[in-house]
Amino acid sequence: MFTDISELKQACTACAKCELCQTRHNVVFGVGKEDAEILFVGEAPGENEDLQGEPFVGRGGQLLDLYLNGIGLDRKENIYIANMLKCRPPHNRDPKPEEMDACLPWLRNLVYLMRPKIIVCVGRISAQRLISPDFKVTKEHGMFFDKNGTLMMGTYHPAALLRNPNLKGACLEDFLKLQDKIREMGIEV
Ligand code: URA
Repeated sequence: MFTDISELKQACTACAKCELCQTRHNVVFGVGKEDAEILFVGEAPGENEDLQGEPFVGRGGQLLDLYLNGIGLDRKENIYIANMLKCRPPHNRDPKPEEMDACLPWLRNLVYLMRPKIIVCVGRISAQRLISPDFKVTKEHGMFFDKNGTLMMGTYHPAALLRNPNLKGACLEDFLKLQDKIREMGIEV
């Protein structure tokens, strides 16, 4: 367990706990304000993220930024964004359970240090791991669950919105609910 985020990040950068370390270009630890009260957790880096070392920088990431900015959130100012996996699975395949198990301690340590008030799971993979194994994005998106004092919410992954633009309205509603919750909790953004 690390007691400082920069030490945690540095150790993670040298991680070789699973085979993804052999094919990655960069470890994508996360980006944002390290003492933010809101943490977003996606699935895993894609090609652009692997090359640039930052989460959500491709087309999906640009879309995510639009939703974030629409409710006054900004990855440089008032939130933190990370992924379940810090390294890209080849050809963007789904993360393997053993890769998730190997990688989760990095996220847990981050959550321990940040103590976010709200965690937003971006997509099914993180929602099923962090909220509930049978989480259904289509039914439970936008709902808040209290997990040991941290509020958790799952929403659509931007890649799903790019594949199916009909989901964009539902995702916007989720973000508006998030904005209401942020105000209700008195979180400064
Ligand atoms: N998809 C994710 O879940 N995370 C990223 O960082 C990029 C794409």
